[in-house]
Amino acid sequence: MCGIIGVLGNNEVAPILVEALKRLEYRGYDSAGIATVNAGTLDRRRAVGKLVNLSDLLVHDPLAGKAGIGHTRWATHGAPSVGNAHPHKAGPVAVVHNGIIENFRDLRAELAENGVGFETETDTETVALLTHHHMSQGDTPVEAARKTVARLDGAFALAFLFDGQDNLMVAARKGSPLAVGYGAGEMYIGSDAIALSPLTDRISYLEEGDIAVITRDSVEITDANGTIANREVRTIQIDATRIDKGGHKHFMAKEIAEQPGVIGQALQHYIGTGSDITLPGKGMDFSQIDRITMVACGTAFYACLTAKYWFEQIARLPVEVDVASEFRYREPPIPDRTLALFVSQSGETADTLAALRYCDGKASSIASVINVPESSIARESDLALPIYAGVEVGVASTKAFTCQLTVLFLLVLKAARDRGTLDDAGLAAHLDALRALPGVINVALGKNDAMRAAARKLSTARDVLFLGRGQMYPLALEGALKLKEISYIHAEAYASGELKHGPIALVDEEVPVIVMAPRDALFDKTVSNMQEVMARKGKVILISDAEGLGEASEGVWTSIEMPKVADALTPILYAIPAQLLAYHTAVAKGTDVDQPRNLAKSVTVE
Ligand code: G6P
Repeated sequence: MCGIIGVLGNNEVAPILVEALKRLEYRGYDSAGIATVNAGTLDRRRAVGKLVNLSDLLVHDPLAGKAGIGHTRWATHGAPSVGNAHPHKAGPVAVVHNGIIENFRDLRAELAENGVGFETETDTETVALLTHHHMSQGDTPVEAARKTVARLDGAFALAFLFDGQDNLMVAARKGSPLAVGYGAGEMYIGSDAIALSPLTDRISYLEEGDIAVITRDSVEITDANGTIANREVRTIQIDATRIDKGGHKHFMAKEIAEQPGVIGQALQHYIGTGSDITLPGKGMDFSQIDRITMVACGTAFYACLTAKYWFEQIARLPVEVDVASEFRYREPPIPDRTLALFVSQSGETADTLAALRYCDGKASSIASVINVPESSIARESDLALPIYAGVEVGVASTKAFTCQLTVLFLLVLKAARDRGTLDDAGLAAHLDALRALPGVINVALGKNDAMRAAARKLSTARDVLFLGRGQMYPLALEGALKLKEISYIHAEAYASGELKHGPIALVDEEVPVIVMAPRDALFDKTVSNMQEVMARKGKVILISDAEGLGEASEGVWTSIEMPKVADALTPILYAIPAQLLAYHTAVAKGTDVDQPRNLAKSVTVE
């Protein structure tokens, strides 16, 4: 969950490292640090908290040098402190690390027996100390790094820099992604292509067990067996200029506002505007599939839960959905004719990737819905479907969620066609509704003021409940997740019908209850549950369309009107009020919207 950058450059490297760390801050922001080699001397600067603290430190205490490594941290072992911040240094070696060294306690004990002392609580310091230990026994830096990496268990990406060596970096990958970037007389390493994008568009990804020995004009990669390996150099296309707030106060606000555009982009890519339709999933035949297992984490998991309703209702295909961290250790049987389908914005979530690897060789086919086409999950899938959301910076996922839903819905249509459960007219109706969706979402975004007003009321609550029925239930879960992660208000979601089996005991005049209820076939049932809440003095925020509000808004605390959309697409549309309510509540509370406490956008440790 940490971000790594390394540069062997021709210019002063500190500002380049800091700029790259800015692009990696989505991976963690507990501390940041850089190390450089200047005139042969290895030195470092580290600061707790956001990257801006490191930038400030470098103004007062600059670090010269044209070779350097940098790190942004999401704390796993040891509290966020300067001492625990990376790079970790032991004698002539500095190390930055993403992941977890699982056997660090054993290695520490071994080093302690050799009289080595420790200054930090981290697992990473062990790597620096072990490398130093090998160098003090006469090993060259490269030999020492190799011997050290061979001793490490766990999932990690590592970069090493050495005193006296301003033309050498060593990088190692096992379990956590790491890319090597090729420049003109310069070389780079980075946790992802986004970090490297302004520096170079030519990168190669290290594979499991790879170690790269890098100088300004060479890279030698060896695989897990120590054999020289060739890793394809790809030209990537990432528009780095788009990574700004575009006049919005927060990335999250910008990303919410972008949804009509990016959903339109995804639709354009998959179905175009003409009558010659190709649905995603080319090469897949859903008539040969008996069930789907969908696996994901966080918001992507709620996208899967929503898609379950669609696959089952529209394509008559049974779907099981699981959170990756449970799925991977439960060892579920995977019957024949099962499609394993993984959803991940980053494509790097450690648990989702492990779940995919579990299914490899067991499922008939592995597909993924991802936002980063170069990601590990995309590369390890038989079929990877990009969602075209563009770079998402806000830690709370917004546009990636609605784009995931859009692409999943298209895949459902493909499944329904393959299985003969959707005729031409049905398909045409769904496609028309999809094409109208960006415009309808624009109308929903226009309700911003109503959402801000409702959020002001929510911002003083201690607990908030979300209710939804049918395909609005996963959206209620997503709404509660959004609210808690950025406003820190305790929020829970329940299927409306479950309310009276326990959660209704929580309802009193202090608890706002947000009811997501478009005027669909289940509306009356949800409204009955809403009445039960109001009878117990619960304060209801009803989100529905004009027809629904006309029928049921009497006595509610607040109502928010959504435009009408085809029933199947309501989860995509109603994501807008779920996001905006959370956003405005967080703004009213003054929390850090884009980088909420304790969270990271990409969870690359389990
Ligand atoms: C983190 C993020 C969430 C995201 C989840 C899964 O928890 O904060 O926004 O939904 O990881 O990430 P993925 O990249 O696999 O979609």
